[in-house]
Amino acid sequence: MEKIKEALSDDLLGKTVSIRGWVYRIRSSGKITFIVMRDSTGIIQCIASSENLNDEQMKEISSLTIESSIELSGKLRKEPRAVTGYEISLQSYKIYERNENFPIAKDLGEEFLLDNRHLWLRSREFTAVLKIRSTVFKAFADYFYKEDYYQVQAPMFVSTATEGGSSLFNVDYFGEKVNLTQSSQFYLETLIYSLEKVFTIAPSFRAEKSRTRRHLTEYWHAEGEAAWYSNEDMMADEEKMIKYIIDEVLKNNLEDLEIIKRDINKIKNIKIPFERIKYKDLIEKSKEFGMNLKYGDDLGADEEYGIMVHFDNPIFVTDYPESLKTFYHRPDPDNPGEILCHDLLAPEGYGEVLGGGERIYDLQQLLDRIKENNLNPEDYYWYVDLRKYGSIPHSGFGLGLDRLVMWICGLSNVRETIPYPRTIRRVKP
Ligand code: 4AD
Ligand code: MG
Repeated sequence: MEKIKEALSDDLLGKTVSIRGWVYRIRSSGKITFIVMRDSTGIIQCIASSENLNDEQMKEISSLTIESSIELSGKLRKEPRAVTGYEISLQSYKIYERNENFPIAKDLGEEFLLDNRHLWLRSREFTAVLKIRSTVFKAFADYFYKEDYYQVQAPMFVSTATEGGSSLFNVDYFGEKVNLTQSSQFYLETLIYSLEKVFTIAPSFRAEKSRTRRHLTEYWHAEGEAAWYSNEDMMADEEKMIKYIIDEVLKNNLEDLEIIKRDINKIKNIKIPFERIKYKDLIEKSKEFGMNLKYGDDLGADEEYGIMVHFDNPIFVTDYPESLKTFYHRPDPDNPGEILCHDLLAPEGYGEVLGGGERIYDLQQLLDRIKENNLNPEDYYWYVDLRKYGSIPHSGFGLGLDRLVMWICGLSNVRETIPYPRTIRRVKP
C-alpha cells in the first residue's frame, strides 16, 4: 500500500500501486470515469475504463460519490493533464463506504459550514493549514528545548485572574465558583525558582465579547518564563523563536503554503532583529498613517491594523503606559508611568500576536499594585509568596499560536486556523 505522495514518483512508473483514501472529485464521460483520490499526503487522478473492469464494476465505480472511502490498485503512468501529473489506471478496488450525499459543496453559507465543521475540515485548504499549524506547535517547543527551557503544565481550573476580571469564564466547581484560566503565566512564574526557564502550550480562555477576526474564547497559548531575564533578553529569545518557526514552516510546508495561495515572499523576507519602537513613539508615528491616536489610547485590533498594514516586518512595541496593562508588569524605574514590557505586532495588518515583559519582583510594589487594582491580596497569596522567598528579576511572554498561524498562512480570520473554533456564538460541533 502506498501513500499518494509516494505514488507521485517516476520510480513507480509502469508498476502496480495500491492506495486508499477518499473520493475527492469524480467525473464520468461515457465509458471512462475519472476519480481524483485524496489521502493525508495528497491527491492523484485514477482512471477507470472497460479495458480493465467489467460492466458491473464500471457501473459501481461511476456511481461513486465525493468522500466515499475506497482502496484501489492499478498501473501508474505519467499524465500531464492530470492534477498532479500522474494517473493510476484502475485494475481492482474495494469500497469501504459509499456516500449518499456529502453535504459540503461549493457556495454554502458560512453558518452551514460552521455547523458542519467536522466534515468541512477535510477540505484541501484546511488540511494544508492544519499541517502548517502542526509544524508551528512543534517548532515552538523545539526552539525552547534547544534553549534549555523545560516544558511544564499548569492547571486550567483556577481561582485567580491574570488579565482582568471582565474576561473570566466562571465554572461551578462542586458548588464553588472558579474560573477557566486566562493565562498560565503566574504558574510558570512559580516554576522558575526550580527550573529557571520554562514554557507551556495550553488553552487559555477569554470571555471576551469582542467579535473581531482575531478573537477566540478558547485559544492556544504558548507561554514562557525565564529567571534573571530582562525585557530585552526576553525579546531576543522571542524573535529568534519566531524566525525559527517561520523557517521550519518554509522547510516543511511549501506545498501547503502553495495550496492556500500564500505569498511566500511575505514570510521569507522576515528578518531579525525586529525593530523596537516605544509606545509613545508609535503614537507619534501613527500620525504619518493619518491616524488620530493620543498618548494613553489602547491599541485594539483596528488601531493595530491601521499601523501594521504599513509594515512588512514584525515590530516590538515597548514601554506601554502603566494604565494600559495588567498589574504584574514591572514599572520602569527610570521612566515613571511606563512599564518594561513589549507586544509583538505582526505585519500586513495582523497586529498583536505576543505580549510579554518584566514582572514586578519587589514585594511591596506588587502588594501596592494589587491594591490599586482593587484585587484581594489573599487571592494571590501564592503569587505574592514568590516575592518573599528568593525573589529575582524575571521576564516572560505569551504567544497566541492561533494568531501566529493566521499570520503565517495569511488568513483573514483566526477561526480558519483551528479545527473547532470557540467564539461568542459557537460551541458546536
Ligand atoms: O496579551 P495577553 O492577554 O497576555 C497574557 O495573557 C500574558 N499573561 C501572557 C504572558 O506574559 N505569559 O495574551 C497573550 C497573547 C496575545 O498577544 C494574543 O496573541 C493571544 O495571547 N490572545 C488571543 N488569541 C486569540 N483569541 C483571544 N481572545 C486572545 N487573547 C489573547
Ligand atoms: Mg496583550
